[in-house]
Amino acid sequence: MIRAPWFARGHGLWQPYMHFHRRKEMKFRTLTLALVAVVGLGFVPLALAQSPMQVHESRVASMKELGGAMGRINQNQKEVAGHPQVVAAATVINNHAKAMPGWFPAGTDMAAVPNGGKNHAKAEIWQAKAEFDGAAKNLETVSADMIRIAAGTDNNAVQEQFKKFGPACGACHSKFRAPLQ
Ligand code: HEC
Repeated sequence: MIRAPWFARGHGLWQPYMHFHRRKEMKFRTLTLALVAVVGLGFVPLALAQSPMQVHESRVASMKELGGAMGRINQNQKEVAGHPQVVAAATVINNHAKAMPGWFPAGTDMAAVPNGGKNHAKAEIWQAKAEFDGAAKNLETVSADMIRIAAGTDNNAVQEQFKKFGPACGACHSKFRAPLQ
């Protein structure tokens, strides 16, 4: 007789289940094992959570992807033929902007993880987290608008929208990122 799993104990559901469905026991056990495996897989990344240094390095890599995406928009914003590339690059930026608030867990600032002077995340991020997250949200909006505008054929509108990106990145960098050496 196997023990009732934790979620089935204590409310009498398990006993009748075992009595009338003994032959299903194996099935149930297999299902439970499968569930444990699936839930377990979900927890592996948590168990192997990134170190503060890895968090900093991986967000810098993602920020560099933003720089690359900005370059692709810059190259392709001048004519309608480039609009599909603009949409693709703005999509990268949009996804990164959504994830950005999660790239800055406490304890990954430039004082905690100096990385030889290469960590530029100022303490202000955590002192004004709502404002910081708001700057990420603004980039999310600017890029979402670009995805919509560049899906059309109004090239002037695309060029106008492109002008909003620099300030969206810059507003955050000027307050929350230490000057790069
Ligand atoms: C919400 C704030 C925020 C926004 C918005 C933002 N960044 Fe950043 N960015 C940072 C911070 C903070 C760092 C420093 C991270 C670190 O050193 O760990 C950084 C680092 C970078 C770096 C790495 C510099 C280096 O070599 O260390 C690049 C490149 C970059 N950002 C580009 C961009 C671009 C391009 C955009 C807009 C499309 C953008 N960022 C939008 C906050 C932001």
